Amino acid sequence: MKICVIPGDGIGVEICAEAVRVIDALKDIHGLKIEYEYGLLGGAAYDQTGRPLPVETLRLADEADAILLGAVGGPKWDKLPAESRPERGLLGIRKYLGLNANLRPIKVYPELANASTLRPEVVSGLDMMIVRELTGDIYFGQPRGIRTSGFERVGYNTMEYSESEIALIAEMAFRIARQRSGKVMSVDKMNVLECMQLWRDVVTKVGERFPDVTLDHMLVDNAAMQLVKNPKQFDVLLTGNMFGDILSDEAAMLTGSIGMLPSASLNVEDKGMYEPCHGSAPDIAGQGVANPLGMILSAAMMFRYSLGRPDMADAIESAVQTVLTNGARTRDIFQAGDRLVSTSEMGGLVEAALRRLS
Ligand code: IPM
Ligand code: MG
Repeated sequence: MKICVIPGDGIGVEICAEAVRVIDALKDIHGLKIEYEYGLLGGAAYDQTGRPLPVETLRLADEADAILLGAVGGPKWDKLPAESRPERGLLGIRKYLGLNANLRPIKVYPELANASTLRPEVVSGLDMMIVRELTGDIYFGQPRGIRTSGFERVGYNTMEYSESEIALIAEMAFRIARQRSGKVMSVDKMNVLECMQLWRDVVTKVGERFPDVTLDHMLVDNAAMQLVKNPKQFDVLLTGNMFGDILSDEAAMLTGSIGMLPSASLNVEDKGMYEPCHGSAPDIAGQGVANPLGMILSAAMMFRYSLGRPDMADAIESAVQTVLTNGARTRDIFQAGDRLVSTSEMGGLVEAALRRLS
């Protein structure tokens, strides 16, 4: 198996190192044959090559069975023109690989129910899956830009979805719902946007082919409210690219910290890129305080969805569970009475648990 590792910027570098340590431990324990190739993306790529997404990175991604990505971006590159920004590199590789489906599991570990800013009874036991479309919507729609009109500038973007794009992500959500509790909540803004009228229409049609799955619809403003009011009403939450971006950060806080959240981005061939939901956190980069668990759990998703080794995914997830049960916490999930650990100590504890549990 070949993995393309792309640490990226900021804390991406530190947390990727911990995920690689965990994979190395699995190689060692189970004799897995896994090779790594390191690729450049985002600000790091811009600094070394003048572009946020070098062709060489696309070649490595093409050749790999899966891609493990840290995070990109930082204030250092904020003044660059749009096409050179680190985020463009990330969107570019998602589009290039056709990673249309972004799966973001929102799971509250019992040990962390108190770490959320919401009351524990609201979040404890929460287990939902956000299925976010990732290669369409206002992120990619044309035309886009900033034009001059009279004496001022006007910024514009286009929210756009084709029927086939909507159908593809809807099918994914229904298939996932079948393996869970059989409920899909589709989120849109059909009361205002034509694009979202089409969304609701196509999702409803696809739903007719999945009579065993219950489909409901919710407007995005209400969904944002319901997520903090009563999150346990949701199981699979299906959204477009931009609403999914926003709602997944909101949902992340139900788990206590966005640092806990993994994600998988898949194309129709199940090639996947695996990255934590959080960003590069430049304010804490290099300090050894970042939480590597979102990244490590992303590696677990990689074993499950792209490498055909769900047993390795289970092993990583149980090791993380054990470490949390034993009270180790990085700063973002720390509360009085816990044991405060650094990024690398956390990675080391997961590794030790893997070795003990195997
Ligand atoms: C995410 C991030 C990205 C997005 C940014 C960094 C471009 O926020 O993966 O959620 O908006 O998709
Ligand atoms: Mg985001």
